[in-house]
Amino acid sequence: MKIYDAGKVIAGLIIFFVVFTFPVYYNHGKVEPAPKPSLETEKIQSLYEKNCVEDKATMRSGHMLLLDKWRDTVVRDRLRSYAGFKGTRFEMSLSNTCMDCHSNKEQFCDACHNYAGVTPYCWECHLTPKEMK
Ligand code: HEC
Ligand code: HEC
Ligand code: HEC
Repeated sequence: MKIYDAGKVIAGLIIFFVVFTFPVYYNHGKVEPAPKPSLETEKIQSLYEKNCVEDKATMRSGHMLLLDKWRDTVVRDRLRSYAGFKGTRFEMSLSNTCMDCHSNKEQFCDACHNYAGVTPYCWECHLTPKEMK
């Protein structure tokens, strides 16, 4: 091979690689869209300030820890009142508090959990919003 062909060969390889793998990364985004958990519930619409118990980032990454803490506090210490990050008091309850605001469990909790492949077993005992109606 003549030395001045090397550039063409490399360019050819790059084009081949891009064209060949394009469907892979292009489809990746289409097949598994990241979930957009929905906040469209009557309760949340009616809130003057659209806040969760803790700030959004803390809830996103740490809601399981918060739920564990709530369960332990209720079951061990028999306390039920929790001060949220804005000072609002919440009853520490999965069904009565979390699911009261996030009553669209399928479009909220499940949307993320299905995507992440987690199936919390809580609903074996705790009532889902549908069961509470
Ligand atoms: C008073 C209504 C209310 C209650 C009670 C509530 N949430 Fe929220 N939650 C919200 C709102 C509003 C947001 C969006 C907050 C924002 O955008 O800053 C949110 C955000 C979240 C998020 C982050 C969603 C995302 O897109 O990253 C998670 C997870 C969450 N909540 C879980 C819970 C859990 C678990 C509980 C019970 C421990 C709970 N929430 C209780 C209203 C509530
Ligand atoms: C923004 C996405 C998102 C939303 C919204 C969300 N979760 Fe989660 N949740 C996750 C992820 C991701 C995990 C797994 C985290 C891990 O294993 O570290 C998880 C784990 C959990 C766990 C622990 C399960 C286990 O087996 O370890 C519980 C309990 C839980 N979520 C409850 C809820 C409830 C109740 C709601 C709705 C009020 C909710 N989550 C909404 C993303 C979300
Ligand atoms: C085997 C049944 C069972 C399972 C499964 C279960 N719980 Fe509970 N949980 C209970 C009982 C019983 C109480 C005590 C109720 C009370 O004193 O009000 C409780 C209390 C709680 C409380 C405080 C009170 C309330 O009304 O919510 C939280 C929060 C809680 N559990 C979260 C969870 C989460 C999160 C999961 C899943 C990761 C889970 N639990 C799985 C039976 C269960």
